[in-house]
Amino acid sequence: MTVLVTGARGKVARAVLDRLHAAGLPVRAASARLADLSVPAGVGTVELVLGRPETFAAALDGVRQVFLYPEPAGIGAFVEAARAAGVEHVVLLSSSSVLAPGAEADPLGSHNLSVERALAASGLSCTFLRPDAFATNAFAWTHPIGRALPVELAYPEASLAPIHPEDIADVAVEALTGTALRGHAVTLTGAQALTFREQLAVLSEVLDRDIAVKAIGRAEAEEQMARFMPPAMAGSLLDVWAAASATPATIADTTETLLGTPARTFRQWAAENAPAFTAPGE
Ligand SMILES: NC(=O)c1ccc[n+]([C@@H]2O[C@H](COP(=O)([O-])OP(=O)(O)OC[C@H]3O[C@@H](n4cnc5c(N)ncnc54)[C@H](OP(=O)(O)O)[C@@H]3O)[C@@H](O)[C@H]2O)c1
Repeated sequence: MTVLVTGARGKVARAVLDRLHAAGLPVRAASARLADLSVPAGVGTVELVLGRPETFAAALDGVRQVFLYPEPAGIGAFVEAARAAGVEHVVLLSSSSVLAPGAEADPLGSHNLSVERALAASGLSCTFLRPDAFATNAFAWTHPIGRALPVELAYPEASLAPIHPEDIADVAVEALTGTALRGHAVTLTGAQALTFREQLAVLSEVLDRDIAVKAIGRAEAEEQMARFMPPAMAGSLLDVWAAASATPATIADTTETLLGTPARTFRQWAAENAPAFTAPGE
């Protein structure tokens, strides 16, 4: 009755692995790059590349549940292999981007939507976790904050509800260990709506240092972001932030409703991760 956790180098996957292993559940960590994977002692590892079906059999042997990162390449073959191996339930780390108007044509939305659809058509029991923006996105600011440079933003007033990755992991484990979330899609957000400027003000307080914000034009932001991601993805994110500048982010009370505890705050995440902002990043 092993649980397979894919994308095991990911932050959410690692938190899910830790919880399942600590609870004494049999768990296997799958990664596309085993050489760079570290897991808790006693956890088995396996190479899994969704674009390479020859890696599926060993990964899925004896598996009944999967925690899955969305990867459209090879998802059809993976779903088939999962069914053949006797998998009963898949918990997908999807995204709230699937709910946006025009998601099918959007690089963020369509990536997740195509995986959701392949799973929905498979007949497997599924849970779709649809988190909004991650608190971990703030790691993008370690470089300027660590060097006391202004944080350059095209949309400093974009309002988001950043979610702590541990909250996503808690809900994922609930979905994997209970039955209440089977067949459901849940939107997950953090506890508070915060603009980028407000997130930086929280970081400034937690770090006890001034953080300047510099508004830049969209074209300049697009050029900067395209160094780290496909240009279409950068454009899509900028569209999201432009739209989010008009109204405060909507808060989903899913974490509290499902787990009985309030969602962790961005301040908590900032305090836990302060060291990443105090040394110059790369
Ligand atoms: N950021 C957001 O605001 C947001 C919002 C909603 C949904 N999401 C979704 O959440 C997922 C990202 O979650 P996450 O933050 O847990 O993932 P992450 O830490 O960014 O890692 C994502 C995956 O990339 C692979 N990877 C490649 N290089 C890596 C490296 N140097 N370190 C760690 N992992 C590396 C890992 O898979 P292997 O181990 O197999 O290589 C890992 O599972 C994406 O699918 C995204 O669409 C994100």
